Amino acid sequence: MSGTTEAHGLTNPEGGFPPPAEFTAQANVGEEAYERAAADRVGFWEDAARRLDWTQEWDQALDWSNPPFAKWFAGGKLNVAVNCVDRHVDAGHGEQVAYHWVGEPGDTRTITYAQLKDEVCRAANALTELGVQSGDRVAIYLPMIPEAVVSMLACARIGAVHMVVFGGFSPDALASRITDAGAKVVITADGGYRRGAPSALKPNVDEALTKTEGVRSVLVVKRTEQEVEWTEGRDLWWHDVVGGQSTEHQADSFDAEHPLYIMYTSGTTAKPKGILHTSGGYLTQVSYTHWATFDIKPDTDVFWTAADVGWVTGHSYIVYGPLANRTTSVMYEGTPDTPHQGRWWEIVQEYGVTVLYTAPTTIRTFMKWGEDVPAGFDLSSLRLLGSVGEPINPEAWLWYHKIIGGGRCPVMDTWWQTETGAHMVTPLPGVTTLKPGSAQRPFPGIAASVVDEEGKPIEAGATGYLVLTEPWPAMLRTIWGDDDRYKDTYWSRYGAGVYFAGDGAKLDEDGDIWLLGRVDDVMNVSGHRISTTEVESALVSHPTVAEAAVVGATDPTTGQGIVAFVILRGDAEDSGEELVKTLRQHVRKEIGPIASPRQIMVVAELPKTRSGKIMRRLLRDIAENRELGDVSTLTDSSVMDLISSKLPGAKED
Ligand code: WT7
Repeated sequence: MSGTTEAHGLTNPEGGFPPPAEFTAQANVGEEAYERAAADRVGFWEDAARRLDWTQEWDQALDWSNPPFAKWFAGGKLNVAVNCVDRHVDAGHGEQVAYHWVGEPGDTRTITYAQLKDEVCRAANALTELGVQSGDRVAIYLPMIPEAVVSMLACARIGAVHMVVFGGFSPDALASRITDAGAKVVITADGGYRRGAPSALKPNVDEALTKTEGVRSVLVVKRTEQEVEWTEGRDLWWHDVVGGQSTEHQADSFDAEHPLYIMYTSGTTAKPKGILHTSGGYLTQVSYTHWATFDIKPDTDVFWTAADVGWVTGHSYIVYGPLANRTTSVMYEGTPDTPHQGRWWEIVQEYGVTVLYTAPTTIRTFMKWGEDVPAGFDLSSLRLLGSVGEPINPEAWLWYHKIIGGGRCPVMDTWWQTETGAHMVTPLPGVTTLKPGSAQRPFPGIAASVVDEEGKPIEAGATGYLVLTEPWPAMLRTIWGDDDRYKDTYWSRYGAGVYFAGDGAKLDEDGDIWLLGRVDDVMNVSGHRISTTEVESALVSHPTVAEAAVVGATDPTTGQGIVAFVILRGDAEDSGEELVKTLRQHVRKEIGPIASPRQIMVVAELPKTRSGKIMRRLLRDIAENRELGDVSTLTDSSVMDLISSKLPGAKED
C-alpha cells in the first residue's frame, strides 16, 4: 500500500483531526460520560439500561460473584423485540421507516415500524404454532432480506434463541452448527441475489439436514423463485405459514439473562465456538454504543451498516442497536459492484444516508476501483463514518475520510468482537481528536488495558496484548454447552477476571490504543474470522492430503489471505493446478467460499520444532516472500531450502 497516501494527495495532519464543532456542540455523548463512568462504572451502565423499557426493575445491576460468569440486571424483565419495535409504535412513530431495503436486482421495500411490528407478530404466532417455545433454538439461514430481521425479532419476542448462519457457509458448516445448538426449526429461502444472479440456499439446507437430526420444520421464504426440492411434512412456505397469521401477539417479558442468540465464530481449534448472548445487558450496550459512537439522531439520520446480518456486526448494528434507538436504516442485499462499482454511492445518494459503517477491506477495494466512481454521486448527506473488522491502515482511513466523507465526517474506528457484543474501544465523534489507524480509547464504562506476557500494563510506546479487566453488559456469557472452553479460551491466561481478547496492541504516548491484529491462530480475511486449524482440518479431510499447515499472509485488499502448505499422501499424485483446484473446492464445500485458500503449495516437508510444532512464522515468511527469520530451532533446517525450491508453486486460479 505504500505510496498510496501521496498518490491520493492525502495528508495525516500533525496532532490529528479534532472533533468538528457541530459534533462537539450537539453530540449525544460528551466528555462527561468518561468521568461519570470512571466514578461509577456500574451506575453508568444502569443509566444506559434505563433508556430501555423494563416491565420489572432489576435487583442487582451486576453480579460478578462467580467469575467469569457474569449476570447483568438480574431480576429485571423486558422483551427485546418490544423494545426494538412496539414501544416506538406505541409512542406514535409507527409511520417512521425502520428499513429502506434494497434488493440487488433493483427491487425495493420500505418497511415502517408499524409494518415491522405486524410482521414480527405474525412470525411470532407462526413459530408458536410450529411448537417453538421459550428457550428453543431456531436456525436462520437467509440472504439479506427483511425476513431475516423479522425472524430474529420473532424469536426474541417469544424467548426463542436464534442462531443465524451466514448464507455463505456450506451445508457441512450449517449442519454442525444446527447439531451443536440443537435447533428444531430452520428458516431459509429458496435463494438470494449475489453478483447479479440468484444463488440458491434451500439445497444447502436439504443437504445439511441429511447430516443432522432434530429439525422438524423448515420455513422457506420465496425470494428468487428458483425451483426447490420439497420434503412434505417438514418444509413449509413462509408466505403460507406466516402470511395467514394474526398481527396481534401478546409478548411476555423475559429475565435480563434470558438467552437471546448464539453466534458461531472461529477459535484456535477446528470446532467453531457458539458465543452466547443474553437479553438485557446486550441490548443496553448495543443501543447505547450505537447512539453514542454514531451520534444517532432518530428523527433525521439515515443509518447504513453495510454488512451481513449473518455476522455480529449485523446483529448488533443492523438489527438490535438501530431498532432499539428508533433509527431509520438502509439494508442492502447484494455486492458493491453489482450492477456497477458505484452501487453503494448510488444508494447513499438515493436515500440520503447520513452515517455509513463498513469494513477496511471494502474501503481498500473502493480505493482500487478509483475515486472517480464515488465522485459521480452526491455524498453530501454523509456526516459520520464508521469502520470495523480489522485494523484500518492510515491510507485507507484518510481515503475514506476525504473521498467518501468529503473531509467533514469523523471516522469512528470501532474495535470489538463477536464475544464482546458491542463497541469496546472507539473514539467518540464529539470528543476525540482522531488519529488515523488507532481505535484510541476504551468506551466509557469499559475497562481495557494493554499488558505484557506476565499481565503487567505496558509502558507507552511498547507492544502487548489487549485485555478487558472488568465485565461489561454485552459480554458473552459462555460458549454454548461448554463452560470449560469458555474459561480456558478467554479467562485463564492472566488469572481470574481478566479477559484475553486475542489481539496484539500498541500504546502511544497519549495512551491511545493501536490494534495490531490477532496473536493466536485466527486469521482475519476481509473482516471474517477463520482459524488456521479449521482450514487445516478441512484440507486433511481430503483423501489426497496427509498433512497441512495454514497461515494468514498479509494481503493488500483482504487484510490477510489464506496460504496453505500441504503434504500429499504417498499414493496421491501431484497434478499441479488440477489438484490445487480440487483442494480449494474441497475447502469451499467443507467450510464455505470465504475459507478457500488464496494459494496452495504442495511441499515434501513442513518446518517443525524439535517438539513437533509447526513453525508458522517461517511459512508466513515464505507466503509473504520475505527472507526467512531464525531457523535455529528447526529439527532440520534443510526443510526450508526444500520448500523454497518449490516456489513460486501453485498460484491463484
Ligand atoms: C476480531 C473480531 C466486531 C465485528 C466484526 C468482527 C478484529 C475488529 C477491529 C478494529 C482492529 C479489529 C480483531 C478482533 N477487529 N474490529 N476496529 N481494529 N481489529 O468480529 O469476527 O468476532 O472478529 O476482529 O482482531 O479480535 P469478529
